[in-house]
Amino acid sequence: MVELQTAIELLKAQAPTVVITGAGVSNESGVPTFRGAGGLWRNYRAEDLATPAAFARNPQLVWEWYEMRRKICAAAEPGAAHRTIADMERRLPEFLLITQNVDGLHGRAGNRSHIEIHGNIFRARCTGACGSRGRRALPYTPAMPLPPHCPECGAMLRPDIVWFGESYDPALLGRCTAALERARLVIVAGTSGVVPIPVHLASIAAARGAIIVDINPVASAVSELADVIIAGKAGEALPELWPAAAGSGE
Ligand code: OAD
Repeated sequence: MVELQTAIELLKAQAPTVVITGAGVSNESGVPTFRGAGGLWRNYRAEDLATPAAFARNPQLVWEWYEMRRKICAAAEPGAAHRTIADMERRLPEFLLITQNVDGLHGRAGNRSHIEIHGNIFRARCTGACGSRGRRALPYTPAMPLPPHCPECGAMLRPDIVWFGESYDPALLGRCTAALERARLVIVAGTSGVVPIPVHLASIAAARGAIIVDINPVASAVSELADVIIAGKAGEALPELWPAAAGSGE
């Protein structure tokens, strides 16, 4: 495929590159996706758990759901996809990872300057007087009393997650847009694109002629704008694509 070769050549030439990931890249680490087979939204209603209204109605229930997921994420280990993307960040001079994932696995694999556009499940924010300054680390500890409270002002903490109906952080979006305006290659891996942010971001680069690669075992909303579709698992496709370009591991 000509476009796949072009993508490899762009990586070899160390062209400005953006990787955008979704739940599929962590699926091989045992973290469930949201949609598709085994997806969380098959068994739970997003409106009951991942909205400000749901939290106002029943914070205990929302925290219990997050605690169940925090336990899974804490036990998971970064996989081959995470490790490959961390190596890309180390070796490409102009590189940005944007993830929708909140599981922290990219950071644990070694990414340092990535953007977690939907937040992080191991952080919490104070809902009270501390306001937005009250963002704090909240590592998983078994049997933590729920809901947790702010050690500074005593108000309830909420997960530091962008819920349905909430806005993205404009500063983070600005960093994303700047990188996508310069990108010549965008690799989108493991997202359905049902939440439109990955399609929106990839379109910025596509409009400027960047090559868009979609890695997903099934067709997604991203496939429609992709130049290259790799119908496979991120943990297999990325480690194949990257050494081919970086000239290592061959
Ligand atoms: P989805 O669950 O919507 O989509 C996951 C995608 O990963 C699907 O298209 C799968 O086909 C694909 N997939 C599964 N296994 C894969 C693998 N091994 N390699 C590559 N792809 C694989 O997840 P997202 O698109 O990330 O919001 O969902 C977007 C947002 O919706 C999430 O960030 C979450 C959710 O509500 C928040 O947490 C705020």
